[in-house]
Amino acid sequence: MSRKILVTSALPYANGPIHLGHLVEYIQTDIWVRFQKLQGNEVYYFCADDTHGTPIMIAARNRGISPEELVNQIRKEHFEDLTSFQVEFDNFYSTNTPENRALSEEIYLKAKEKGHIHRKTLNQLYCNHDDMFLPDRFVRGTCPKCGAEDQYGDSCEVCSSTYRPEDLIDSRCSICGTPPVEKESEHIFFQLEDFQAFLEEWLKTPNRVDEGIRKKMYEWIDQGLRHWDISRDGPYFGFAIPGEKNKFFYVWLDAPIGYMASSLNFFRKTGKDDLFDAFWRSEENEVYHFIGKDIVYFHTLFWPALLNAGDFRTPTSVFVHGFLTVNGEKMSKSRGTFVRASTYLKHMDPECLRYFYATRLGPALDDLDLNTEDFVHRYNSDVVGNIANLFSRLVSGIASKLEFKLSSALSTEGQTLFSEVASKKETVKEFYENRQYARAIREIQSLSDSVNRFITEKEPWKQIKSDKEAARQTVTDAINAGMLLALYLKPVLPVLAGGVEELLALESPLRFDADLEPLPGNHEIRAYRHLAGRIEPKAFAEMFEEEKLAAEGSAAIGGKANKAAGQSGKAKSGEKSSNVPGKKEKQKASDMSDQSATKQQDSEGSTEGIITIDDLAKVDLRVGLILSADIIEGADRLLQIKLDVGEAEPRNVIAGIRSGYTPEELKDLKVVCVTNLKPRKMKFGTSEAMLLATGKDESLTLFVPHRNAKPGDKLG
Ligand code: 2FM
Ligand code: ZN
Repeated sequence: MSRKILVTSALPYANGPIHLGHLVEYIQTDIWVRFQKLQGNEVYYFCADDTHGTPIMIAARNRGISPEELVNQIRKEHFEDLTSFQVEFDNFYSTNTPENRALSEEIYLKAKEKGHIHRKTLNQLYCNHDDMFLPDRFVRGTCPKCGAEDQYGDSCEVCSSTYRPEDLIDSRCSICGTPPVEKESEHIFFQLEDFQAFLEEWLKTPNRVDEGIRKKMYEWIDQGLRHWDISRDGPYFGFAIPGEKNKFFYVWLDAPIGYMASSLNFFRKTGKDDLFDAFWRSEENEVYHFIGKDIVYFHTLFWPALLNAGDFRTPTSVFVHGFLTVNGEKMSKSRGTFVRASTYLKHMDPECLRYFYATRLGPALDDLDLNTEDFVHRYNSDVVGNIANLFSRLVSGIASKLEFKLSSALSTEGQTLFSEVASKKETVKEFYENRQYARAIREIQSLSDSVNRFITEKEPWKQIKSDKEAARQTVTDAINAGMLLALYLKPVLPVLAGGVEELLALESPLRFDADLEPLPGNHEIRAYRHLAGRIEPKAFAEMFEEEKLAAEGSAAIGGKANKAAGQSGKAKSGEKSSNVPGKKEKQKASDMSDQSATKQQDSEGSTEGIITIDDLAKVDLRVGLILSADIIEGADRLLQIKLDVGEAEPRNVIAGIRSGYTPEELKDLKVVCVTNLKPRKMKFGTSEAMLLATGKDESLTLFVPHRNAKPGDKLG
């Protein structure tokens, strides 16, 4: 029986563009959703823009438009960016909608009726000029600890100390520059502490969250949960709290309720009204949230508590991922590595990013590093060189000379190959189900190696000259196995897989829940059409350059003013880190993200000296064939080698192996080499791979494959 599954990604905040960091989550979610759909489950993927709060209100004011206009505009941009990356939502809605208002009120009123709400008067900074209370991030001044000027109201970027906004020296409102005053106001609190026992119980269910997070949550619970400030005084862009004057729900109250609102809107407009209750009021179906590690506290404590208060069910699991780094460093606007989705699209195909993220994603919350060299190498060699090349050499080179007609059946060897690839379906499925995408990709690539090896051994380009039917048979055998690879890759590369479906003139699209059968006898395929193109090595440099110039441009035309108005990368947290008890929560949440990441590593066994299978998989070990070896004048220990690693061009390698080998001995020797090591610029040229050897001086010995391996074959 098929499962009913509701999936969400965190709602992007509507005051900035989608960037590559966001895309880790949307791509991770989309791959999972596509996989679930391909195996016949009834899956719904919901998202929305997160629209409320002070930063958006101020941003709209600065642009001279209403917050509603601003969030509509941004929502369109977000939707366009995300769908360009083939992120396929069932509904991409907004939190500023009637459904969300109604659900927020319903949950609040239920919580109130059950006695989980109380009020308390707080002292806060207020700007008399703007007539508003100032969130911490809208107060700036001199750090009371180190004296650094122009710091935010809650923490210093120079000395990292945290403090109360009242403690800032010479503080001023970041919107208008006026010094704020302290003013009292009554706030409304949700008593999270009432849900202690409930949350403890909730966590006992296996697979709610990753183990590291579960431990951290128990620590939080043990420390005692605190009530949570859910109100903000007007002016504020948000929903008015029923029964109150000039009080609005804090953005984090109605944001996750936006998941429900998006689903309600969709179910109503598609005539599936019953599904809302089937997902949110009953435990019979599955609900999953994909989120980043910075918002765990909101999703694993507040959110289940709110749902429980509102008599709704809680999520089946919350899946947490780490942050994106670029070449080992935090994304940076000044370095140009803070790449917006729209900029990326001008330089590269979206499927390159989907593929690279998949090669790096697992269920753990480790950060994901976008190493640009690796990115280019992986895509060019795996997708273009291995997968697309498989089809292109069969179809444009050979099938085109056979009227695109396949043989009547697989040969015995072809059947063996087909069965070898088909037998991995369950393994690949399990990897996707458990969000082990990197492992799925490794499995698929190794199968693809088998198919390519089959082709290389058969040499259909020779067969076509002497025995057309033999060539037809090879094409038939290899194409059928290749078709399965396209299925396995389909959740990650839907466009490429669609291209293969088209090329093979399939009657129905590839699916995981169908039996894996070879194509019908004498099937006619179509002429080859481009499936994937190589990434130009300069693509990233150009992309970063464009972002760098854009950042410099925006700094020159008032970046500082924008920053004050909450348009910097920080604006998002501007609203979250409230200056009342919520701040503590935010603080805890960020403590947690660091700690849980560490814990995760511990539990994955990243103790010194020990590496995980994922670490090992980072090393691309391949078979290389030495085409030539030459002495380098002036370098006693080095030899200059041309090494065939199965790519269009041989690689240049400068190897310190002269003490153990003469150039003559090396010619035509197959060796083992590392192909994804950063190229090393040396005095005598750049070395683009490393040969594996042991011993030194004359006992230096290269590792050679034991039997019939081909250049480019992967080890592992
Ligand atoms: O962290 C953020 O960007 C939030 N806008 C995420 C909200 S997720 C959900 F709770 F709405
Ligand atoms: Zn002001």
